[in-house]
Amino acid sequence: MLDTPTPNATGAPRLHVHPVHPATPDAQWWRTAVVYQVYPRSFADSDGDGVGDLPGITARLGHLVDLGVDAVWLSPFYRSPQVDGGYDVADYRAIDPVFGTLDDFDAMLGRAHSLGLRVIIDLVPNHTSDEHAWFREALAAAPGSPARGRYVFRPGRGATGELPPNNWHSIFGGPAWTRTTDPDGTPGEWYLHLFDTRQPDLDWGNPEVHAEFESVLRFWLDRGVDGFRVDVAHGLVKAEGLPDWDGVTSMVEGSRSDGSGPMFDQEGVHEIYRTWRRVLDTYPGERILVAEAWIDALPRIARYVRDDEMHQAFNFAFLTTPWDANRLRQSVLDSLAASDAVGAPTTWVLSNHDVVRHTARLGLTEAGSLPKGIGAGEEQPDTELGLRRARAATLLMLALPGVSYLYQGEELGLPEHTTMPDEARQDPAWFRTGGAETGRDGCRVPLPWEAGAPAHGFSPSGRSWLPQPASFARHALDAQRGVAGSTYELYRQALGLRRHLALGAGSLDCVDLEGTAPSEAVVLRNGELVVLTAFGPDPVVLPEGCDVLLASGSLATDERGRLLLPPDTTAWVLPAARHLPRARGAQG
Ligand code: GLC
Ligand code: MG
Repeated sequence: MLDTPTPNATGAPRLHVHPVHPATPDAQWWRTAVVYQVYPRSFADSDGDGVGDLPGITARLGHLVDLGVDAVWLSPFYRSPQVDGGYDVADYRAIDPVFGTLDDFDAMLGRAHSLGLRVIIDLVPNHTSDEHAWFREALAAAPGSPARGRYVFRPGRGATGELPPNNWHSIFGGPAWTRTTDPDGTPGEWYLHLFDTRQPDLDWGNPEVHAEFESVLRFWLDRGVDGFRVDVAHGLVKAEGLPDWDGVTSMVEGSRSDGSGPMFDQEGVHEIYRTWRRVLDTYPGERILVAEAWIDALPRIARYVRDDEMHQAFNFAFLTTPWDANRLRQSVLDSLAASDAVGAPTTWVLSNHDVVRHTARLGLTEAGSLPKGIGAGEEQPDTELGLRRARAATLLMLALPGVSYLYQGEELGLPEHTTMPDEARQDPAWFRTGGAETGRDGCRVPLPWEAGAPAHGFSPSGRSWLPQPASFARHALDAQRGVAGSTYELYRQALGLRRHLALGAGSLDCVDLEGTAPSEAVVLRNGELVVLTAFGPDPVVLPEGCDVLLASGSLATDERGRLLLPPDTTAWVLPAARHLPRARGAQG
């Protein structure tokens, strides 16, 4: 432990440092990047149909360059009936007409690359759409046929097969099985769908499925993509015999029982990713795989990023940690320890297209809890407090070594749409639970680009596939650009400093600040930079003579001239040289 007591004549608090995570000497882009998630339906609409599209994305790529991110991840744009926002793929090699054409894709990719942005696309291997040619073939074919063998068809239980083959639940509500009807009109076999009825699960025990997905990987790698975000990466292989299971699984926060259901995190998935890694490694450049796996045990997630498997896995443990200094600090330390153990970078994420935006989560009475959407009849977040904390949370996140993921609109401080009319809702989770789950539409509302324009600049026609709340006007990009203290400018400055200070490749030390209890602040050091987040109830007194580089809110000064960090605020500071031992690796 490094511990340097310093003189304390003015009563300014001293810092004590405990090393946690060494710097990453390796500069591979995917170990340190900031990745921006685009949800194509809601980013920018070029043709006025009210749905975002690829030419819309191409036209707005400059925004990502101005913001200062390194890469973009696109949620699905493949041919799809859009039952689950495109996570129901009918053709893995075609662009849905609503988004454009393959030429539009190539133009977008070429433009992104010319701007220095890497492009990661979404791969959905657990299930297809019911409109996929394979599934249509399977329905038309007889039980036991090779066409059915690409999916999970089983006879029902009960005297006449009237009961589903097991007791599994769909993540979106209701049973995970749907019964088919034979060509002669009589009830037939059942098929498995962990999600919507219209998202049949593939059978990854079938070599044809493996071959098809390797071919799909090559199709997009040949076009030049930099990687794949792998949807439901922990779900592809199911336990032998599909045994009954009484646990409950849900998106993002993972399993709510003993941690291991027979549909998730089976050993067999790892061999799939080892094979894929070998495919990616035959391509020039560093092409990557990112796991979306909702598993609560961090060491289990780390197994997806062992050095012959994927490159990154989303760290949902950080996202689901409530607004509590001790728990957040512990989450950061545990995350780094788990990924360090396998030599992988840690990822950090606070918002995505599946969760209530962190501006809203952090404004709830139970700050940082994870409701399944927020409707008009539910507790409404305190938007001001939520935004203040969200800015603090983001500034904390962006100071951490590893990879950070941003979700479109968070750089505008966008609120969740919490009063969307039920008639407007589209999420299958809303329909399958009979409205018991509000669902994810509130975080998927099209972006506001220009305050006075139709659909706030989202679409030239003013159409928008989900309604935008009135509050979006003041969050529009053009209302924030160049405005000191705006959320957009905070993100831009943070990303600029992060790059300048190489924080992504940095080290992490835990710091004790004298006079501040661990429950009142998270204080960490990355290289020379100390990041402090205050949680209250009182402001945190900053060390004397420190240089404040950036803060998520205004600081105050006390009667002794000491700088105060108010609750729910984060600051990036360079402590006066005499207060700290030099960061490791920085001794000239
Ligand atoms: C992933 C996606 C989510 C989708 C689900 C089914 O969790 O992020 O949006 O509904 O998979 O594909
Ligand atoms: Mg459009």
